[in-house]
Amino acid sequence: MQHPGGVLLALLLLAGLSLTEAVEVEVHDKDSKTCIYAVLSVNFTILYEGNGTTENATFPLPNSVSSNGSICGGNNSAPLLKMGFGTGHSLSLNFSHSTGEFRGDVLIFTYNTSDAKRFPGAKNKSVKHVAVNSLMDSTPLHTIYTCRSVKAIASEAVVMVFWNVSIQAFVENGTIGKNESFCKADLPTTVAPITTRTTPIVPTPVPTKPPPELPAVGNYTIKNGSDPCLLASMGLQLNITYTENKTHSVNIDSNSTASGQCGDKDATLVLEDMDTTIQFHFIVDQSKFFLKEVKANVSLVINGSRTALNSNNSNLRFWQAFVGSSYMCHKEQSIVVTDQLVINAFNVWVQPFQVKNGTFSRAEDCKTNENYIVPIVVGAVLGAIILIVLVIYIIGRRQNRSGAYE
Ligand SMILES: *[C@@H]1O[C@H](CO)[C@@H](O)[C@H](O)[C@H]1NC(C)=O
Ligand SMILES: *[C@@H]1O[C@H](CO)[C@@H](O)[C@H](O)[C@H]1NC(C)=O
Ligand SMILES: *[C@@H]1O[C@H](CO)[C@@H](O)[C@H](O)[C@H]1NC(C)=O
Ligand SMILES: *[C@@H]1O[C@H](CO)[C@@H](O)[C@H](O)[C@H]1NC(C)=O
Ligand SMILES: *[C@@H]1O[C@H](CO)[C@@H](O)[C@H](O)[C@H]1NC(C)=O
Ligand SMILES: *[C@@H]1O[C@H](CO)[C@@H](O)[C@H](O)[C@H]1NC(C)=O
Ligand SMILES: *[C@@H]1O[C@H](CO)[C@@H](O)[C@H](O)[C@H]1NC(C)=O
Ligand SMILES: *[C@@H]1O[C@H](CO)[C@@H](O)[C@H](O)[C@H]1NC(C)=O
Ligand SMILES: *[C@@H]1O[C@H](CO)[C@@H](O)[C@H](O)[C@H]1NC(C)=O
Ligand SMILES: *[C@@H]1O[C@H](CO)[C@@H](O)[C@H](O)[C@H]1NC(C)=O
Ligand SMILES: *[C@@H]1O[C@H](CO)[C@@H](O)[C@H](O)[C@H]1NC(C)=O
Ligand SMILES: *[C@@H]1O[C@H](CO)[C@@H](O)[C@H](O)[C@H]1NC(C)=O
Repeated sequence: MQHPGGVLLALLLLAGLSLTEAVEVEVHDKDSKTCIYAVLSVNFTILYEGNGTTENATFPLPNSVSSNGSICGGNNSAPLLKMGFGTGHSLSLNFSHSTGEFRGDVLIFTYNTSDAKRFPGAKNKSVKHVAVNSLMDSTPLHTIYTCRSVKAIASEAVVMVFWNVSIQAFVENGTIGKNESFCKADLPTTVAPITTRTTPIVPTPVPTKPPPELPAVGNYTIKNGSDPCLLASMGLQLNITYTENKTHSVNIDSNSTASGQCGDKDATLVLEDMDTTIQFHFIVDQSKFFLKEVKANVSLVINGSRTALNSNNSNLRFWQAFVGSSYMCHKEQSIVVTDQLVINAFNVWVQPFQVKNGTFSRAEDCKTNENYIVPIVVGAVLGAIILIVLVIYIIGRRQNRSGAYE
């Protein structure tokens, strides 16, 4: 029987990649049938406290790992892939499934700073864990999830860079799926997500990033004591340009924590998720309020290293409405904060002042004061059509007449 892992490794070799970089793991059930299968390459970079300095440890996932502690999963337990190495280090991923798909749930990296070889001079010698949940997309059951593209995941002091990842859990009858389900980053924009693995796919497709999903709408409330004093409901997406014409989009988690403060003429809303803090500053000018200032701190990983981006613009005039009412806009808006940062806002509904009874007051819709261009265009087009019909009619009449006199 041909071993699918062998084929994959051969492919990696053909592609000119070093064999030592790919780690292959199989988890077997009590009948020695494969229940979880994975091939992957990972580079870890870990910041740790040394002798008065911050040090970083960089090492790959070694090509020989122990699957001890892995679980095939059953009726009451989720499958768990655990790859142990060295003195107490491990990378583990558990899986869930629903409606014909499986997905990686929580990825936990455990490292032991007592390991003097990997963490020389570490001050605090202890075992630490970082947990993230974004390694793999949902994948149809009985297919193998494949992601050749480089993917960096950063959390706290750790950056993990993954590439050439293939994973299948819930393997049935010990048979690894013939079909591959590619990650989004691997797909050229027009290829269907599932293709049959027939001939070796040697050249890595040039990844064309698809546009990100629309951000989920979050509901945020700031209270003054126990009374809501600022309400906001919106979906936010940051479009970051980090080097010339290279952009990166991040959706703000709709579960971001909201904080801030309300005043009579000044109000702020601060949204924080893992990697982003955005501050919206609203003011009142005469009888209207508007968004005057945005401050954003974004921490993102570019080519495996963490970069902080701070943007600030205090000269904005967005989301304007009369005090005592709320501002609503269903169309997408782009707020240009700096050359580096554009905030795309979706389904905005905000009321930063005079919130009564915890609910939004009458809404001023952006359509009513910004969309008067549309009727003008429609009117102009209608006028042109009438003119054309008239000309055709006159020409038609003339031709008829000349025909009659022949
Ligand atoms: C992983 O680390 C090795 C050795 O430091 C380096 O040569 C390689 O380019 C790294 N791979 C990625 C994808 O960062
Ligand atoms: C820490 O650094 C200081 C000065 O660089 C040095 O004197 C000391 O011996 C170092 N301690 C350890 C445990 O390496
Ligand atoms: C790791 O440390 C080296 C040398 O101390 C430094 O050049 C490098 O930038 C550091 N990398 C990260 C990701 O902090
Ligand atoms: C696997 O782990 C168990 C307990 O966690 C231990 O008793 C056993 O020796 C380990 N086996 C291997 C091969 O490391
Ligand atoms: C799991 O559930 C199925 C039916 O629901 C049952 O046939 C099977 O024995 C259960 N397996 C275990 C390990 O409990
Ligand atoms: C951490 O590393 C130290 C030194 O290598 C070792 O003695 C200890 O058992 C390790 N801890 C765990 C939990 O494996
Ligand atoms: C995966 O592990 C995490 C952390 O141990 C746990 O919170 C989560 O419920 C697990 N997921 C499943 C599907 O069991
Ligand atoms: C596993 O085996 C059962 C019984 O032999 C069969 O019905 C089922 O289709 C097989 N599943 C896969 C994915 O091959
Ligand atoms: C926000 O509020 C709206 C209306 O009350 C509700 O439909 C929506 O599900 C809420 N969204 C979240 C993320 O809670
Ligand atoms: C991000 O901004 C760039 C440059 O402003 C633009 O070309 C691109 O379409 C934007 N992407 C999204 C998803 O808005
Ligand atoms: C937000 O939190 C709720 C409950 O804690 C959870 O069900 C939901 O999946 C979370 N949404 C996101 C986008 O993380
Ligand atoms: C505020 O809400 C309470 C209970 O929901 C209601 O009885 C009251 O009439 C509301 N007041 C206003 C001004 O809408």
